[in-house]
Amino acid sequence: MPAVVVVGSQWGDEGKGKATDQLGERVDYVVKFNGGNNAGHTVVIDGETYALHLLPSGILTPGVTPVIGNGVVVDLEVLFQELDALSERGVDVSKLRVSASAHVIPSYNRTLDRVSERFLGSRQIGTTGRGIGPTYADKMSRVGIRIQDLFDASILRQKVEGALENKNSLLVKVYNRRAVDVDAVTEELLSYAERVRPMVVDCSLELNRALDEGKTVLFEAGQATMLDVDHGTYPFVTSSSATAAGACTGSGVGPTRIDRVIGVIKAYTTRVGEGPFPTELDNEDGERLRQAGGEFGVTTGRPRRTGWYDAVIARYAARVNGLTDFVMTKLDVLSGYEEIPVCVAYEVDGERVDEMPDSQTAFHHAKPIYEMRPGWSEDISEARTFEELPARAREYVEYLEDISNCRISAIGVGPGRHATIVRHDLLD
Ligand code: GDP
Ligand code: IMO
Ligand code: MG
Repeated sequence: MPAVVVVGSQWGDEGKGKATDQLGERVDYVVKFNGGNNAGHTVVIDGETYALHLLPSGILTPGVTPVIGNGVVVDLEVLFQELDALSERGVDVSKLRVSASAHVIPSYNRTLDRVSERFLGSRQIGTTGRGIGPTYADKMSRVGIRIQDLFDASILRQKVEGALENKNSLLVKVYNRRAVDVDAVTEELLSYAERVRPMVVDCSLELNRALDEGKTVLFEAGQATMLDVDHGTYPFVTSSSATAAGACTGSGVGPTRIDRVIGVIKAYTTRVGEGPFPTELDNEDGERLRQAGGEFGVTTGRPRRTGWYDAVIARYAARVNGLTDFVMTKLDVLSGYEEIPVCVAYEVDGERVDEMPDSQTAFHHAKPIYEMRPGWSEDISEARTFEELPARAREYVEYLEDISNCRISAIGVGPGRHATIVRHDLLD
């Protein structure tokens, strides 16, 4: 089973980091292919908690080669900080590879992310403020700075100058900020060059060769299906391709080489930032889920919005990613409910809708249609086989599997590395 993609099936924070980490011992490469340090993955190993943002979760597993693909946007200061922090904790980070074609997040894009959000007022997206959107915008506008540009000082200066031509007008005339100095930015970027140089590779060549040799490559998405710039709840999305297809464009590995696509999905739903969320619980039930699930952002510390499981979204994620398996996380958080509502379809302007509406207006109007499922009272965090789960927890999973159009191959019952029930091997 050489090439496997792991994606988020909802609005992020489904537990992709834990799922990747868990498969880590059986893979050779873990590739981050989209996003940047807007992501936040918490991985718990032997009671030790690691919070990762920019680095692929595979960095925590000895033997794995972690790769930052060309589809990622890299804040080099954050990269070095994260590497230093992990080194101090005894993690070997020497194997990290970074694509020469990945884009760099210059400091002016962090500024622009924040001021443009403020400018949007009530229409703001609630970004993480890390400069992600402006950097992808630069990439598409062909004024971005790539890792390889750091190794040619005169080209770099020209590119920074080109990028700042428009941005300085915007900053000064529209946002009433000070202009950014071309030389200062160029020097800052150049100061990172020597440290990153030994990590730089041709990502496509290295990964395709690895696959030719029969190595196992795991592609780890940041963000999630509903935050994907094409398939998510646009404009309340991130600016990259967080769905499975992004693994190909973001790494230079073709779709015919991908064998399996795993969607990580919570047994309920959360969202950070603005935008529509049909099953959101803006009440005590939502607060209970937030507290029981520890639903606070790893990156910004914001409380996550919470709601019941939404099978319309699950079916949509199965479709747009071509999922072969779901990994369902946080089933343990649902212990103690008498009944658990599950959204099976929406009502949109008086009509029942079973599939994700194709229009943003319709999605904003979508009201969940719930089926009530019996809950269970037992603590399930020690269960390690499906049979060890209480009958009603098994029925809940089987019901969700029935209505979500893809088998549920693993079930998370706690944050720890081994707190998982495997029903079907994910790499076989
Ligand atoms: P990611 O962004 O998809 O990697 O997910 P995050 O790390 O942002 O958020 C998932 C959170 O849930 C983390 O704090 C994990 O430690 C935790 N987690 C993952 N799986 C489980 C599970 O099955 N049960 C519980 N209780 N926590 C889990
Ligand atoms: P992981 O990988 C949850 C959200 C932000 C905001 C929107 C756009 O941990 O699942 P951006 O800074 O990307 O321009 O913000 O996307 N967002 C996430 N929400 N988990 C994430 O990553 C996210 N990355 C971005 O809150 O609504
Ligand atoms: Mg996260």
